[in-house]
Amino acid sequence: MVDIVYLGHSAFLLESSKGKILIDPFITGNPLASAPKDLKPDLILVTHAHGDHLGDAIEISKKTRAPVHSTFEIANYASSKGAKSIDGHIGGTLVMPFCSVKIFPALHGSSVDGISSVGIACSFVISTDGKAIYHAGDTALFGDMKLIGEEFKIDMALLPIGGHYTMGIDDAVRATAMLNSKFVIPMHYNTFDPIRADPEEFRRKVESKTRAKCIILRPGDRYRLV
Ligand code: NI
Ligand code: MN
Repeated sequence: MVDIVYLGHSAFLLESSKGKILIDPFITGNPLASAPKDLKPDLILVTHAHGDHLGDAIEISKKTRAPVHSTFEIANYASSKGAKSIDGHIGGTLVMPFCSVKIFPALHGSSVDGISSVGIACSFVISTDGKAIYHAGDTALFGDMKLIGEEFKIDMALLPIGGHYTMGIDDAVRATAMLNSKFVIPMHYNTFDPIRADPEEFRRKVESKTRAKCIILRPGDRYRLV
């Protein structure tokens, strides 16, 4: 059983029986964020260095000593700013006592100031309490999502639907099909004007074209994956 708490944008807190995993914690400066003040994660995952994903990760790591896990250069960047970090890279798996995390590609950039690239963007499959959760980060649709769906029995896919910088609704439906996920939660929409999207349109399309059930969360909402 894993509780999935949506903090807004692409930020999630996964609460399993043994540990808490925080992903892409963009809270400060996010007009739609809803997050507890005393986040105490055991692990922080960052898909790429853009401000709306790296977000508060470094500050939270400094405060709680939870390590930031990401691709090699992003993890090193976080530690250069005072965070604790665990590096990794695409294709590798981090095994922790309470979860394992495999890093997969994402088709996206990873700059810190909009110009200077730090490492490359990624996505994650997080396995904990017998569940497999895919967090796509920011990405376009790519065909190797099919391989992820073949390797893991994905219980939950967290997918961007906002378009403009990432895949939009129709590509997210195709991603859900390739991942063959049981459930899907849309993310990365409506935070800013260019990424306006209707999650109900995504629900209608994804539930008619795939086996997935769509769960729409508002920031602060919690979904229990059993
Ligand atoms: Ni981005
Ligand atoms: Mn983004």
